[in-house]
Parts: sequence; C-alpha cells; structure tokens
Amino acid sequence: MSTQALLTPYHKNLNVKNRVVMAPLTRSRAANTDNKPTADLHAVYYGQRASAGLIITEGSQVSKCAVGYVNTPGIHSKAQVEGWKIVTKEVHDKGGKIFIQLWHVGRMSHPDFHNGDLPLAPSAINPNEQSYTPEGFKDTVAPKAMTKEDIQTTILDFQNAAKNAVEAGFDGVEIHSSNGYLFHQFFNGTSNHRTDEYGGSLENRVRFFFEVLDAVKEVIPQQQIGARFNPSLNGVFGMTMDEETIPTFEYIIKKLNDYDLAYIHLSEPFTDVSKIPFAVENIAEHFRPLYNGTLMINAGFNQESGNKVIASGNADLVAFGKLFISNPDLVERFENGYELAKWNEDTFYTPGKEGYIDYPTFKEQEQHA
Ligand SMILES: Cc1cc2nc3c(=O)[nH]c(=O)nc-3n(C[C@H](O)[C@H](O)[C@H](O)COP(=O)(O)O)c2cc1C
Repeated sequence: MSTQALLTPYHKNLNVKNRVVMAPLTRSRAANTDNKPTADLHAVYYGQRASAGLIITEGSQVSKCAVGYVNTPGIHSKAQVEGWKIVTKEVHDKGGKIFIQLWHVGRMSHPDFHNGDLPLAPSAINPNEQSYTPEGFKDTVAPKAMTKEDIQTTILDFQNAAKNAVEAGFDGVEIHSSNGYLFHQFFNGTSNHRTDEYGGSLENRVRFFFEVLDAVKEVIPQQQIGARFNPSLNGVFGMTMDEETIPTFEYIIKKLNDYDLAYIHLSEPFTDVSKIPFAVENIAEHFRPLYNGTLMINAGFNQESGNKVIASGNADLVAFGKLFISNPDLVERFENGYELAKWNEDTFYTPGKEGYIDYPTFKEQEQHA
C-alpha cells in the first residue's frame, strides 16, 4: 500500500480506490442543440481521467431555466440522459466512479438564455457580474424574485435531475450549493432579502437547500449524495460576506450530521480573505470538528498539501480542479512522482477537442519527446 495518504482507499459510503477526486469543471463542450454530452468529447475526456478515486462532473443544469453559461450540458432531457449513459459506461469500464454535479445558477444568468425572461433568484438583486451567453459575456440583470411556486418547481427539477442521474448510470450526485449560485444566493443575506419562510433568519435562508436535499434523497440513497459549499467566498460570483455568513455555514454543516451523505465538499477561500473580518481563512481546519461524515476539501491543493491535509485529519478526500484539466493521469503522476503539466486557460471553455482531450499522459508525452 502507498505511503501517500492521497493514494490510500477510502471506504465509508463512497468506497473509492484513492482519495484523489476530480473537482467539477465547466468546460462548455456540449455545443449541440440538445446540450448533451457526446461520445467523441465528454466520454473520452472523463474516461481519460477514470483513475481518479472519484470524478465529479462539470455543473449540469437541472432544467432549461437553471442554465447560465453557453454550451454546458444538462440532465433534464432524454437526449442528455442518453449522452451521459455513454460517459458513465466509459468511466465504469475503465474502473472509475462518477458523480454528476446538479446545478442551478440562479441570478448568475442572463435573459438571453430564457427567451427574454428574467433569471430566477431569491430576491431581485443584480449580482453585477457577467454571464457567458451565446453572444459572449453580457452584464447580469436584476433577476426575478422566486415565487413559492417557482421554489416548488425547482425542488422538483432537482429531484427529476437526480432521477435522471440514476437512469444515466451515475454513482451519485453532488448538489452545487456553492460559488454564488442559486443555493448560495439563498444562504447569503446580501442576495436574499426575502421576508417569507425562505429569508430573514438563518434557519429560513437554508430551508430551500434542505427541501431540495430531502426531495433528492427520495430518489437516490443519501449515501450517494454530496453537497458543495464555499463558505468564505467573497468579492467574486456576486458574493459579499457578512457577519452571518460563517454562522450560516456552521449551521448547515452541523445539520448535515443528521444525514448520512456521501460527503460534504468544501472549498478553501478563492481569494485572499485575510482582511475580511467575517471570513474564515482555513476552511478544512475550521469545519472538520463540526462534521462527523466524510469531508472533501478543494482549492489550491497540490500533491504535498493534499497529502498533508489528509494526514492532519482535517479532510478525508481532496478534489483537484485545474491539475486534472492538464493531467488526465494525475493519480499515476502522484504515484510515480512524475512532473505535472501546466493547464492552458485559453482553452478552458472553447469548443472542440483542443485543450480538452488532447492533454497527453506522462507516458504518452515521454514517447513523443
Ligand atoms: C475551468 C473551470 C471550471 C469550473 N467549473 C466549476 C463547476 O462547474 N462547478 C464547480 O463547483 N466549480 C467549478 N470550478 C471550480 C473548481 O471546481 C475548483 O473549485 C477550482 O478550480 C479550485 O480548485 P483547484 O485549485 O484545484 O483548481 C471551475 C474551475 C475552473 C478553473
């Protein structure tokens, strides 16, 4: 057995061969009228990365109305389910495991995606960000405050997407409650000014997320559900922290002890928050004592810091994002101490194969050197 903590198996609920997780990464390659994953792009891409203990797919919209970026795949139509079946088969054939990230961007969208209608959000507050539309980046607008009917519809959309995920052969689902998207907009007092039972108190601001979680666990065992949070997100994706932000996440994460989830997936701060009075700088360290289940940590980790955070006991699994874009064989590179390849930001979101399925493994790279 390897002496590297990252390369040891992990059994609770997930049962994975190593603790190296591929983080969810939007790549905007579903450039077809159905926004479905395809055999020649998505299946190849995810199959190449099947040596990860777990792959979490890119954010995948749970309904037409959940979308906010061009060419992202969905998990709400028959064609999309058929496309994902090819992907899950490829990953399983190669001995991997794959969860799908269920996504609703809320106000981080644009009317161009909704035939001119406004995107949905807890309150009509413009995040003053940009949305990546078919015609390029456009300024976001003040969204429509969701009615209770909109909330009920969205709960069912997530439930239906989870049902579709099971049909498509996924090993589980991750609820995207992170990075300034819909659930995060409900959690945060600067984006949620509601006066009904979904706004105001901390219990009210988290209600929608737990209603979705309860609906999703009716169609897939909770041991196959993960949830992602970014507690110290500040100044990006329209999020501004206040004094209630961290207590809200503490409340959510403690409440998740009442469930038996596959994992919670936390991100370390995306920006320097050392001068933000309400922020926590060390997320894994802060939240580990509050949670009894499996804790996955992400953001800015490398082989050394990943091994360290597991050995310290502050996390069970580490999700790597950008490193998995340019190193399909990241696990083998960690195993053998091979050099890591740099990613090219210019091709993160461009259509086609380039910068997507043409990063070689270390061995392929050596053969062609
Ligand atoms: C190109 C790109 C696309 C991303 N797409 C998603 C996404 O769909 N869902 C999500 O939760 N995070 C997404 N993220 C954030 C990553 O999952 C991860 O949190 C971030 O890259 C930091 O981890 P790293 O330092 O290991 O790259 C994306 C990041 C990048 C660079």
